[in-house]
This record gives sequence, C-alpha cells and structure tokens, in this order.
Amino acid sequence: MQLHLSSWPEVEEYLAKSKAILIPIGSTEQHGPNGLLGTDCIAPETIAKRAGEEAGFLVGPTFNVGQAQHHMAFTGTITLRPSTMIAAMVDWAQSLAHHGFERLYWLNGHGGNIHTINAAFSEIYHASSFDGVDSNRAPVRCTLRNWWELPGVMDICKQLFPVGEGHHATPSEVSVTYFAYPEAQKRVTMEPKIAPFGPIRDAKDYRRRFPDGRIGSDPSQASPEAGEKIVAAAVKAVISEFKQFVEA
Ligand code: NI
Repeated sequence: MQLHLSSWPEVEEYLAKSKAILIPIGSTEQHGPNGLLGTDCIAPETIAKRAGEEAGFLVGPTFNVGQAQHHMAFTGTITLRPSTMIAAMVDWAQSLAHHGFERLYWLNGHGGNIHTINAAFSEIYHASSFDGVDSNRAPVRCTLRNWWELPGVMDICKQLFPVGEGHHATPSEVSVTYFAYPEAQKRVTMEPKIAPFGPIRDAKDYRRRFPDGRIGSDPSQASPEAGEKIVAAAVKAVISEFKQFVEA
C-alpha cells in the first residue's frame, strides 16, 4: 500500500490498525556513465514498494533529493543543504505524527545522507521536549536502515559481482534500477573497465579523480536478473525488520 496512491479514508482506515509507515529516502545524483540519476531513490523505493505490497504495510512517498554536493560537477545532480534536508524531514515527520503515525522507518539509498538523517532524527526528538511536553518519549520514533546493509543483501551482491563492485555506481545498485526500469538500461563500454578508488572531497576534486563518476566499480556487469535477486533478499529482510520495529 502506497500513501500517494491511497485516498484519505484508506489512510485513516490503515491508522486504525497500524501506526507505522516506511519512507524510502535517497538522492538524485550522477551514477556513472550507465547509471540512472535516480539510482539512490529507485533502489529503496523498489524494495519498499514490494515489501509493502507483500506484508500489507504503508509506504510513504520517496524523499528523493539528498546530500549530493560532491556530485555537483556532473550534470543533472540536485542537492539539498543539510539544513534544508533536516527541515524538510522534520516537516514530513511532524505531518505524519499529526495524523497519528508513531513509527517512521526510513529506508535509505545513499551513504552521503546518513549523518544528515541522524541529525534530522535528533531535531524531530527535540521538538517534542521543547514543545512543553513533559516527556522524553517522542511522539514519533524513527529508525534508519541502509538497504545495502540489510541482512543477506551484501552476501548476494558479493556473490553476483566478486570483481568490480566498488564504492559508487556499483553493479548491484545499477542492477536494482535495471530490474525496476528495464526500459532505462544503457549499454556503455567502461574505460577503464574498473574505475579508480580514492577519497571523496569537493565536487571539482571528485570529477578530477573520477572522470566518469564511478568509484572502484564496473557497472557494465549490471543486469535486471541480478537486480531481481538483490531485491528479493532485501524485501525479505525489510519485512522482518519492519515488523520488529513496529512491535518494539
Ligand atoms: Ni548510489
């Protein structure tokens, strides 16, 4: 069940039996020569949508722009200031809390978002204390999970791509998007076959070190078939974790 494809009476009905929602969160940023700009939102969204359908829980609209400053030397990338992202996440959480949601499970698709998401959680929890509510219990409880860290997922990725998984624009994440949108596949010859590794600094330095946007990866190996296997493992893990989070 997806919030943006539901009517208000349907959401009201859902709230009568569950106060929990899963929100995919990602980034709109370059993902190398054959990766989609939406990779980091499409991956958590695809996993969340399937998990929600299978287990009957509500999936929120995808928070689809995040911390992508270091990708700004590549066309099409969109980024938020950390303060903007925190403010927007707080407003999303407070809107949902206003309607009665108490558990927000954020399924993240982008490593660069992690610090800012955790800062947003602090901001969300502070709001309840500073509102004069005499309690340390926040009206909403949040949790963050990076999809690639879900139990069982990395094992499958390593099995599928023992060479050239790398750090950015990985064959695993590109496979997940090709599974979701097979019509968006791009066949590109990678030069060099495996991209260099190195540190992430500012946007200009990133482009100089990693001219086509990849870090350490060979995403020409990506396929919808591989993506399907990764998604299946992730869906299973999300369902189990979401249920635990709801009951905790
Ligand atoms: Ni990514």
